[in-house]
Amino acid sequence: MNHPVRTRVAVVGAGPAGLLLARLLHLSGIDCVVLESRDRAYVEQRQRAGILEQGTVDTLRRAGAAARLEQQGMPHDGIELRFGGNRHRIDFPALADGCRVWVYAQTEVVKDLIALQLEDGAPLYFDAPVHAVQGADTDTCVVHYTHEGQTRALSCDYVIGCDGFHGIVRRAVPAQATQVHERTYPYSWLGILADAPPAYEELIYAHSERGFALASMRSPSVSRLYLQVPNGEHPAAWSERRIWDELDLRLGADTTWRLNRGPITAKSVLPMRSWVTEPMRHGRILLAGDAAHIVPPTGAKGLNLATSDVTVLAEALIRLYDSGSAELLDAYSDTCLRRVWRAEHFSYFMTTTLHTAPGQSSFDTRLQLSQLDRIATSPHAASELAANYTGTVPHDSGRNS
Ligand code: DHB
Repeated sequence: MNHPVRTRVAVVGAGPAGLLLARLLHLSGIDCVVLESRDRAYVEQRQRAGILEQGTVDTLRRAGAAARLEQQGMPHDGIELRFGGNRHRIDFPALADGCRVWVYAQTEVVKDLIALQLEDGAPLYFDAPVHAVQGADTDTCVVHYTHEGQTRALSCDYVIGCDGFHGIVRRAVPAQATQVHERTYPYSWLGILADAPPAYEELIYAHSERGFALASMRSPSVSRLYLQVPNGEHPAAWSERRIWDELDLRLGADTTWRLNRGPITAKSVLPMRSWVTEPMRHGRILLAGDAAHIVPPTGAKGLNLATSDVTVLAEALIRLYDSGSAELLDAYSDTCLRRVWRAEHFSYFMTTTLHTAPGQSSFDTRLQLSQLDRIATSPHAASELAANYTGTVPHDSGRNS
């Protein structure tokens, strides 16, 4: 393998952000190299969320990466909220200007992008951990990494950190140049995949005094379900029987409706965190996706934010290399952060409205139920939720408005 020693854009991380960015740049003839510390199997098996906004689907289509999504993705026109004995549907097209979302797992997006890139794309190296990024404030940046036992250096114009919350690229930015904003939550999610046909056509978000539950899906024969659990919970504490019984209780099973049960094929605990580091650029280093911001999963914004970041970034780099204008690149951080903060608020709102905190007072529960009742009875409040969920709130001078 002939490793390049120079490229225009070095992308660190082969998750959805890095892979999609590389695809968009490659289609515009901009050289890039993608470095991923893990192996391909690990990257392709990581279980993540599965809701794609319209804008995410549009970008995947433009990237030529939507063939399997068109066949296997499931368009959804609404979600159901369950709370205090009520069942209320949020109708996306009616409330959010004809918009909908797609159920298609992030792992599948990643597999599709990897297949495309290996077939016709920029160099992509797995098992290639980056050790250091130098020269963010100089004319050339250098990325030091290891691949196949050899230490290598890659010079570039820009380094893009798409390497997640634990990534290395953001650590090359001096601490005094960044501001970090964070919120933690006193609960986590237990997520399962089950070989069981979903007993619901649309996702169900359930508020219950036993804790939050979410019923999602991966296909007509695979259910994806989540339960709020205490922080530090071990998945082994939850037998299959206990999981199904608890899901039925929280989702309000009765004589007319209950979940279809089936073998549980994956089970893990997910922490919840809100976190933003800003600005998203320092000299020749730019951050995208989870390397710059984390949202708690309620509302499924993580992948969509990552896609939005790299869509803005690809356009900015294409403008720079086509016309010499750095205007869009200079605006990158501000452009992205407007959407990021909207999604941070929405994810926080969904999380705190639907979960029951340990020791929560009856006053706090009443506030949650009042807010959910407001959404169920006011088209204005429901439209606000639908616009945020489908990602159609305006973020910058008319785009997506
Ligand atoms: C899924 C995850 C979410 O966090 C969410 O809000 C909706 C769906 C999912 O994994 O399917």
